[in-house]
Amino acid sequence: MKKFFGLFVLLALALVVSACSSDSTSDSPDKSKDKGGGSAEGPVEIFSWWTGAGEEDGLLALIDLFNKLHPEIKVENAAVAGGAGTNAKAVLATRMQGNDPPSTFQVHGGEELNKSWVAADKMAPLNDLYEANGWLDKFPEALIELVSNGDNIYSVPVNVHRGNVMFYNKAVFDEHGIEVPTTLDEFFEVADKLQAAGVVPLALGDKESWEATMIFENVLAAELGRDGYLQLFAGEIDFTDERVVAAAEKFGKILDYVNEDHASRNWQDSAQLVAEGKAAMINMGDWAKGYFVNDLKLVTNQDFGYFAFPDTVGDFAVITDTFGLPKGIENVESTKQFLTVLGSVEGQDAFNPLKGSIPARIDADPSKYDDYGKDTIEDFKTAQLYPSLAHGSAASEGFVTKANQAVNIFVTQRDVKNFVEALQNAAPDM
Ligand code: GAL
Repeated sequence: MKKFFGLFVLLALALVVSACSSDSTSDSPDKSKDKGGGSAEGPVEIFSWWTGAGEEDGLLALIDLFNKLHPEIKVENAAVAGGAGTNAKAVLATRMQGNDPPSTFQVHGGEELNKSWVAADKMAPLNDLYEANGWLDKFPEALIELVSNGDNIYSVPVNVHRGNVMFYNKAVFDEHGIEVPTTLDEFFEVADKLQAAGVVPLALGDKESWEATMIFENVLAAELGRDGYLQLFAGEIDFTDERVVAAAEKFGKILDYVNEDHASRNWQDSAQLVAEGKAAMINMGDWAKGYFVNDLKLVTNQDFGYFAFPDTVGDFAVITDTFGLPKGIENVESTKQFLTVLGSVEGQDAFNPLKGSIPARIDADPSKYDDYGKDTIEDFKTAQLYPSLAHGSAASEGFVTKANQAVNIFVTQRDVKNFVEALQNAAPDM
């Protein structure tokens, strides 16, 4: 975590330097440039939780591209439904424990990759793939750090999602004369106004509980500041600290403004409330943008707008989906071919405009992205980055599970003392 912090401070500079020297055509996934064996092997089984609305379009486009470039290699899409990997992660754990790994699987950069799989010696290093493809200066140093352990690099980031975004229904804001709130105080004023007018201010669907954890992590960043947030997850600040208590109180207050049926909705169902104008705003990762545009056919900056989570303007909650090479698989070369396409400019630009995320590579083509994507690509270059808790980068899977449970209890009981104590008790698992 400390290293992560240091690298993020250097990120803006690294991006500018590399952007000046990059050549977007130098890393085409063209077969003539394949560095792997290239021989046909068994199907490449791609394991993720990207099924259905708002999730699968990007993956299918990437698989399509791969099929075109490598008709000789079969691909098996082994996605398991459930936002944020609710079900997929359990299936993956069983398979990994049973020595039956998929060829490659979705895993968040950071502690999820490192503590769950690298520490258990389940992953093969990919340094050779990075070197062969000239990737070492094509991904931001901070992202490479998130997928590394010591000198070894263990996965390839396909994207960067932003977690501290609020999407809002433009017609609802216009109708009620609402200005975009930039601070939590302004948010509470706006929320009061909307509630008085009979509109649900904030949509929430925490059937799987990570959705509420996302709100809490952003309130933590708002209250502690980016640096305090990093210190908290580095174990340098206790969860019983008064700033965390203040964050928990504000989180509780935010929950006063959500739809009553939040516990029976998933993220798509709650995003739909905003699309339909039944709720004004939602804090959701920008996979919601993919859902609004691809599935609900809404138009960015016309039907819906976006702004940074209040009091985190200038910060960026990083969620990065990455794919690695489990030890013990038989089709290593074919899987490396897939990872090569996934890490290429063409692969990233096929996947990300549909997924709602921005490319992890610094030399992708911004013209392929809509206004939201272009803005986010720019923000990422200058923002102070912080790793998402709910999406596995800030802490181990064990801690995330306990944090989700604590959040879930807090959402119904609103007991701040119990909440921060539960988090503090879980802290040794971080
Ligand atoms: C995140 C993942 C995103 C998106 C989201 C909702 O954990 O990083 O790509 O799929 O879950 O399922």
